[in-house]
Amino acid sequence: MKTVSASVLALASIVSPVLAGPYSRSQNIVGSGFYNAFNFEAISDPTHGRVKYVNMATAQAQNLTFASANKFVLRADAKTTLSDSGSVGRSSVRIRTNAAYTTHAAVFDIQHMPQGCGTWPAIWETDEARWPAGGEVDILEGVNDQGPNQITLHTSPGCTMPATRTQTGTSLQLDCNTAINGNTGCGVRAPTANSYGPSFNAGGGGWYAIERTTTFINVWFWPRGATNVPADVRSGGTSVNTAGWGTPTANFPNTSCNFPQFFSANNIIINLTFCGDWAGQAGIYNGAGCPSTCINYVDQNPTAFTNAYFELNSINIYT
Ligand SMILES: *[C@@H]1O[C@H](CO)[C@@H](O)[C@H](O)[C@H]1NC(C)=O
Ligand SMILES: *[C@@H]1O[C@H](CO)[C@@H](O)[C@H](O)[C@H]1NC(C)=O
Ligand SMILES: *[C@@H]1O[C@H](CO)[C@@H](O)[C@H](O)[C@H]1NC(C)=O
Repeated sequence: MKTVSASVLALASIVSPVLAGPYSRSQNIVGSGFYNAFNFEAISDPTHGRVKYVNMATAQAQNLTFASANKFVLRADAKTTLSDSGSVGRSSVRIRTNAAYTTHAAVFDIQHMPQGCGTWPAIWETDEARWPAGGEVDILEGVNDQGPNQITLHTSPGCTMPATRTQTGTSLQLDCNTAINGNTGCGVRAPTANSYGPSFNAGGGGWYAIERTTTFINVWFWPRGATNVPADVRSGGTSVNTAGWGTPTANFPNTSCNFPQFFSANNIIINLTFCGDWAGQAGIYNGAGCPSTCINYVDQNPTAFTNAYFELNSINIYT
């Protein structure tokens, strides 16, 4: 009997599409390693933000990026007062990995994320050249300090999510099609306020992780002080077994979405913009209790952006 059940289990682990792990580490990005793994994109903001993305040399010269042995910082300029008419926006950074990833797991150990009225930070994955055909996964994103975090997929038409899923978050729109409702996407709201913004930072941040297979995408969040952080996530070691990570915060199954069709190899992008299409909408900006108009506030109050920075302990990629 023992022999039979063992071979049945072995067979099940070969054919079952959900058992994708364990994974081995393929990239360990720490400190100045970020400068090799990522490229600084000094582009104009496609989402019309009040921002001036600078290149790496400028970012380093202005200390908008800073690396030590075990920290990597990305920040907005918190010194310069801008003129409302004569400027494109506050200097900030947008970085994109040189490598692109299909099936993978990634663990983001984040100590601090940008906060402040007008801020719109994001850690996400996409294929910019083919968007939206190559898909988009927003892992950490929000505006104007309004948590909790929202995890969202954006795709071309034909990818939808079931209403009932095994996740701790709350499903929002189920259609991932970018052409519906102004590119709302199919989102999941994280269950706790400490998943985003000032509340995330007050607790020392935490870990976000993604697992992308050919049949699902899962995203997890564990706050720094949580007692259920998996040991392999906490240690950032050479392998992870996602099967031990528990129920994800957001689960995107392939019930009505053929993932290999809608998602190509994606880069990881980390960006911090201001105002623009989402954060800058008057109803959203003032609705968050933010003063003045978004553009005026961003231009005139440099010290309000002292905490508009990412501090990353590491990003580990597993394939
Ligand atoms: C920043 O990230 C979000 C992620 O969803 C994206 O929609 C937006 O276009 C990005 N902004 C810029 C300027 O890249
Ligand atoms: C640059 O930023 C880092 C990280 O915030 C900080 O520790 C350092 O003192 C800054 N350096 C200068 C010259 O301002
Ligand atoms: C989801 O994955 C299963 C297992 O590989 C496959 O049989 C099924 O066709 C997939 N569904 C879609 C909609 O692609």
